[in-house]
Amino acid sequence: MAMASTYAPCGAEALAPGRAKVRAPVGFLGLGPSKAGLPRPLAATKRPAAGPAPAASSPRLRCSAASSSSARPVTAPRFIQHKKEAFWFYRFLSIVYDHVINPGHWTEDMRDDALEPADLYSRHLKVVDVGGGTGFTTLGIVKHVDPENVTLLDQSPHQLEKAKQKEALKGVTIMEGDAEDLPFPTDTFDRYVSAGSIEYWPDPQRGIKEAYRVLRMGGVACLIGPVYPTFWLSRFFADMWMLFPKEEEYIEWFTKAGFKDVKLKRIGPKWYRGVRRHGLIMGCSVTGVKRERGDSPLQLGPKAEDVSKPVNPITFFFRFLMGTICAAYYVLVPIYMWIKDQIVPKGKPI
Ligand SMILES: C[S@@+](CC[C@H](N)C(=O)[O-])C[C@H]1O[C@@H](n2cnc3c(N)ncnc32)[C@H](O)[C@@H]1O
Repeated sequence: MAMASTYAPCGAEALAPGRAKVRAPVGFLGLGPSKAGLPRPLAATKRPAAGPAPAASSPRLRCSAASSSSARPVTAPRFIQHKKEAFWFYRFLSIVYDHVINPGHWTEDMRDDALEPADLYSRHLKVVDVGGGTGFTTLGIVKHVDPENVTLLDQSPHQLEKAKQKEALKGVTIMEGDAEDLPFPTDTFDRYVSAGSIEYWPDPQRGIKEAYRVLRMGGVACLIGPVYPTFWLSRFFADMWMLFPKEEEYIEWFTKAGFKDVKLKRIGPKWYRGVRRHGLIMGCSVTGVKRERGDSPLQLGPKAEDVSKPVNPITFFFRFLMGTICAAYYVLVPIYMWIKDQIVPKGKPI
């Protein structure tokens, strides 16, 4: 089993009264930042609270530009949180993605644990997997849903090529597209799933708003993604590489997009023994239910990144290289944690 499969509410209601719920492992309740690097209960954090989710009659929310977390301050350049860099990153990573990257960060038991709140238990559900890549998460979806009802979308043709080779995904509609601008009509799907993709979106709030739009009323969005490290070195490399949101940021984005019953479940590889101080590339599964038919009540300004605009090749190359070097740190972290797990006696903190 993956770590942290048993959960209880941990008091995030303070962020979005009556709406947002964070589910944390039972054993973690009430802890401040421990040696294991566990975050405080969210209600006790100092971050500004998200406002209440927009009700049907409430005025439409407006944000003039990309949400705050999508901005890249000098201290957090997030070199690969760009569509072009992400495209080239996966041009090469797709070659080893399933065999080298996933076993360290995104195991089958973690995936099944993370998909559980998506409530996929009907073969007839219409499901979209956004940023579906090589189809690793889609394989978890088609365990429950007929492949003919599933659409896998990704911006990387190289990742999609790997998905097309998977026998279990025959029948799935596999297509190129952008998570922030989904090529589907409003009110189309029963379930929206996206795993490990948000970290590359220049404007995560826009992607979550799109999730809301394409779902049918009562449909569930399940977004699986990284969590921000607390250990200084891990935080440094995370900030150089891509977006590692804080748990409360996920809740804020979902709530602002208009979702109700927003919940967050922590996930992690079992050999981490619940340690979260290094951040986790797949660290949580956030779900929300579409409240009403139609588009999200949130209105946004222009897209943060226009992929059709030419980029300076030197700047691009520098960002790509730096981002890739910093990403390499996160190949080493699970190996380090695995060695610790082997050495430290079972039942003791690592
Ligand atoms: C870490 S992989 C996750 C793949 C898959 N969901 C899984 O569970 O293994 C991230 C994927 O997100 C895709 N991606 C990044 N930015 C995207 C965007 N703006 N629109 C669509 N896909 C995107 C990448 O091409 C890549 O395949």
